Amino acid sequence: MDFNLEQFTREVLSRKKYVDSCLKEYLNPEDTYPALIHEAMHYAVFNGGKRLRPIMVLEGAVIAGGKKEKVMPAACAIEMIHSYSLVHDDLPAMDDDDFRRGKPTCHKVFGEANAILTGDALLTAAFELLAGTIDKDETMADNLIRVIALISRAAGSRGMIGGQVLDLESEGKNIDYETLKTLHTLKTGELFRASLKTGAILCDMEESGLEALDNYSRHFGLAFQISDDILDVKGDESFTGKPVGSDEKNLKITYPKLFGLDKAYELAQESVKNCIDSLKIFGNEADFLRQLACFTIKRNS
Ligand code: IPE
Ligand code: IPE
Ligand code: MG
Ligand code: MG
Ligand code: MG
Repeated sequence: MDFNLEQFTREVLSRKKYVDSCLKEYLNPEDTYPALIHEAMHYAVFNGGKRLRPIMVLEGAVIAGGKKEKVMPAACAIEMIHSYSLVHDDLPAMDDDDFRRGKPTCHKVFGEANAILTGDALLTAAFELLAGTIDKDETMADNLIRVIALISRAAGSRGMIGGQVLDLESEGKNIDYETLKTLHTLKTGELFRASLKTGAILCDMEESGLEALDNYSRHFGLAFQISDDILDVKGDESFTGKPVGSDEKNLKITYPKLFGLDKAYELAQESVKNCIDSLKIFGNEADFLRQLACFTIKRNS
């Protein structure tokens, strides 16, 4: 399969614009009372985010033979959860970073307490949006309940939060490869996994297809986080929009730290190969996902 980074980046950008326009619709306006929290929520969501998780939700729908519009609220809800996780991840008590998506972090602009509350508000707004979809289309109720359970689990203590706890707990320690892999799979992989399946489930994909997508996204999450670790060492802040060297500053164990940059990249490539192998049951309709897997380790932001 040919992969053209420039061309694919343009495709991602055009999908991001579509997601952004819908996010604007679903988030309460900035002047909603009390304005401070709504301004902060907008600040945290509307910046240079790539929107890969919502893009995955939409692609899950397309592969299942459904329409993107049907899953847009769920796609935006997952981006709200992701944006909240970044606001909290940057707090002084966590990674203590000053820049995110090319702008000063939420706590730098709104203060720590408001940043904590912004994260809380985005997380709860996500579930309000998800549950609210049932009123608009009752036929989706069963699938939506399944998806709400899936997303809650992925974002919670056995998923992303569990991974973040392991991440913080392991600062300055010598953790082994298995622990690092688990940590990455939880903190980053679980939300990607839930994203792709969410779109597919809402569009009635059958179990064998879901299983293939599940395998794909498990490998994708790992490739993505290894690549994030590599960008933390040798990325360009003008593209990543966040500080290079944050992991080193926080004494994190990462793939480059454990294996060196070259071996880390090799392991990311291996995960990409596993992603592509997981899609064997699909034809051309899965080409976007194949390309997305390549993109994740070639990206510069
Ligand atoms: C950054 O995720 C945090 C990780 C889980 C590694 P992204 O690289 O998707 O961040 P945005 O949404 O594009 O800013
Ligand atoms: C964060 O991982 C993963 C989240 C669940 C937010 P990182 O701490 O490596 O993410 P960045 O590099 O700050 O985006
Ligand atoms: Mg972190
Ligand atoms: Mg961080
Ligand atoms: Mg990182």
